[in-house]
Amino acid sequence: MEVTHYPKYTLYALLIIGSWFFTCLLHFRSFHLFGGSGGGGVDFVVLPFSLNSSFHASGIAAADDRRPSSSSCDGRYVYMVDLPSQFDFLKECVDGSPSFENRYSRCFHMSNAGIGPELNSSDDDAGGIVPATGWYNTNQYALEVIFHHRMRRYDCLTDDPAAATAVYVPYYPATDLHPHMCGFNSSVRNGPALAMLRWLSSRPAWAARGGRDHFMVASKTSWVFRAVGGDDLRCGNSLLEQPEARNMTALTYETNLWADAPPSDFAVPYPTYFHPSSAAQVAAWQARVRAAPRPWLYAFAGARRPNGTLAIRDRIFDACDAPRGRRRCGLLDCRAGCDSPRKVVALFASAHFCLQPPGDSYMRRSAVDALIAGCIPVFFRPASTFEKQYLWHEPDPSCGERRRPYYVLINQFDVVAGKVDIEETLGKYTDDEITAMREEVIKMIPRFLYKDPRVKFEGDMKDGFDIAMDALMARMKRIKNGEDMGWKTDNTDAAAVVDNAQ
Ligand SMILES: *[C@@H]1O[C@H](CO)[C@@H](O)[C@H](O)[C@H]1NC(C)=O
Ligand SMILES: *[C@@H]1O[C@H](CO)[C@@H](O)[C@H](O)[C@H]1NC(C)=O
Ligand SMILES: *[C@@H]1O[C@H](CO)[C@@H](O)[C@H](O)[C@H]1NC(C)=O
Ligand SMILES: *[C@@H]1O[C@H](CO)[C@@H](O)[C@H](O)[C@H]1NC(C)=O
Ligand SMILES: *[C@@H]1O[C@H](CO)[C@@H](O)[C@H](O)[C@H]1NC(C)=O
Repeated sequence: MEVTHYPKYTLYALLIIGSWFFTCLLHFRSFHLFGGSGGGGVDFVVLPFSLNSSFHASGIAAADDRRPSSSSCDGRYVYMVDLPSQFDFLKECVDGSPSFENRYSRCFHMSNAGIGPELNSSDDDAGGIVPATGWYNTNQYALEVIFHHRMRRYDCLTDDPAAATAVYVPYYPATDLHPHMCGFNSSVRNGPALAMLRWLSSRPAWAARGGRDHFMVASKTSWVFRAVGGDDLRCGNSLLEQPEARNMTALTYETNLWADAPPSDFAVPYPTYFHPSSAAQVAAWQARVRAAPRPWLYAFAGARRPNGTLAIRDRIFDACDAPRGRRRCGLLDCRAGCDSPRKVVALFASAHFCLQPPGDSYMRRSAVDALIAGCIPVFFRPASTFEKQYLWHEPDPSCGERRRPYYVLINQFDVVAGKVDIEETLGKYTDDEITAMREEVIKMIPRFLYKDPRVKFEGDMKDGFDIAMDALMARMKRIKNGEDMGWKTDNTDAAAVVDNAQ
């Protein structure tokens, strides 16, 4: 989470306990508060909604290319709920609003249908690798907005809920929560989300399946929306633990791998900075990262935590600061600012391996940014791997079980205990092994991108949205067929998390 506009954090909160292969570990989580932090980063940022043209830079997003095309829509029709304006958290983002001029406003960050302001080629000189078009300063929490705009162009929308395979709820849970995520009482944090659910479940479309055919995108981790218990000083809200939401399917950035029952939320990749408008643009980028010179053995973009509260980070900084490390490690210290996407991408494109230690959460946006740059990810916890989190996006449909290795997993505790040396471990890979792994990473790039939601994409390529929709439709068909998806019937699982954390 830290390699973007949030170089500082102000509050540690919420403990979660997870077990992995019968091991329990305590994992501190922290959340960014808006306001108050320095470092030249953007603090208060989140997500808009207005379907106004100001959102679409050029106003071109329209229904021009979403006319249902007969049989290809069978089993893929989606009904999009029309939410009352009280649940539109971006309604200030309308044409002519001065908010668009303010670099720190959410309208600014969610401009261009959620992908944010275009990167200027002159922004800084570090980003030679990043092309002049197709790249944006995308906020890490923007997926719910981007997804909404993609849905508006989805080719199989229907006005008839009864004809739909699924019902999409264009609510922006992260946008709602972000400004009062921590330190506010429970009614402030939960109020709008609960009101929305009550409204939603009173609609005729809900009754048919008790909401089980409904889905929404919530662009933060699952944990943030599963904060139950009455303590007024907690972070997050309990959106996903509400009975209505437990019937729905949610797409989040990270799911609970330890839930007793199959989760009703699925992890999808963070949005990165590249939003192509054609398959040719993607192929050109893949060729560019394949050919990029990579002087660093490994790279890391992140910050130390105060007082050694995240030992793995300290070990990485120590390794990079050592004389030997200075020759092999490319480091971007986010205390000095990581808010230049060009610098971040240029760094990742100049290293063979990119370190992804857990931070606020197991998964980091940085891991997706690194993958896009053709950098082999190095994870330190199994729960951080694409394989465990991105059940829909990670598998390569073209190679089934015979997947070639494309990432490195180093045990975080062994590193902290001094039993394993990161540099030595990575240094053992041969050039051929590295090239083969990188090739696998480069193949994954399309599945971890989100296309430019404002235009009709040229060429045939499934992106993160398309893959999520295919998986959602498959799931919804099973639900419609009455299959038992292992629904949770109460919230004992979340209650256990909270109890353990205390
Ligand atoms: C944008 O939205 C506002 C408020 O909903 C509305 O008054 C205005 O006419 C809209 N502008 C356009 C261009 O649709
Ligand atoms: C890029 O440059 C244009 C024109 O100079 C400017 O209007 C825009 O705000 C710049 N974008 C960013 C993200 O700085
Ligand atoms: C919660 O906080 C809000 C504003 O901070 C306040 O207006 C409200 O009365 C508080 N509610 C409770 C139940 O304490
Ligand atoms: C959840 O779905 C079940 C089964 O369809 C239904 O009985 C229940 O009322 C639904 N819950 C809510 C809150 O609508
Ligand atoms: C770090 O430790 C020092 C000394 O114990 C303390 O004053 C400071 O508040 C701590 N900082 C944080 C962020 O915990």
